[in-house]
Amino acid sequence: MRDLVQAILEQYQLDPLGTHGLVHWARVCSNGLYLSDREGIDTEVVELFALLHDACRWDEGQDHEHGLRAETLAMQFRGQHFDLGDADFELLLTACRLHSEGLLHADPVVEVCWDADRLDLSRIHVQPMPGLLCTASGRAIALGDDELPPCGEDAFLANNWGVTESGEILDDLLDGFPGCLPGTTTTGLFRIAAPAISRAATAAAVAMKRVSS
Ligand SMILES: [Fe+2]
Repeated sequence: MRDLVQAILEQYQLDPLGTHGLVHWARVCSNGLYLSDREGIDTEVVELFALLHDACRWDEGQDHEHGLRAETLAMQFRGQHFDLGDADFELLLTACRLHSEGLLHADPVVEVCWDADRLDLSRIHVQPMPGLLCTASGRAIALGDDELPPCGEDAFLANNWGVTESGEILDDLLDGFPGCLPGTTTTGLFRIAAPAISRAATAAAVAMKRVSS
């Protein structure tokens, strides 16, 4: 998955810190994992959707073609940066292509993808409306009868995708400081104290750049 994240970031046209950037992708994934559990579906398509659905935006507005471009990117990256069976791949393509069309009915996996995205509208001060969500689980959350678990964005990004919220690759950052944390693997560190490591590594890398420039 980390190879896919890096490939997506390499082609991403916008600021990873933006409204539709990495923190949003993390929350969509976190939301999707919770909804998947509630709806009893597999999570593979949902996680790929979280990473891909806004990955080809050219602006932070409506950008009507970004779903189509995400579908194309998924076709381009399949077999190169991720693998998925034919049936699930068709679901991923549908979820990406149509995610901003306001549709309410699709395969349950696609519905979870769309609700996971719509439930993060609160980041732009838009309260998701129950009637605009596809799944019973999503509607329960919008009605206040259930609650999404906190995502813990920094830790989620570090643990699952190996990046900071601004898109730095954590392995690259920590490789720049050999011996600073002797005897500890980076993977282990992510699990123990990912948020603090992410922030410290970013600050240290910035400081090193300033010293060397
Ligand atoms: Fe989105």
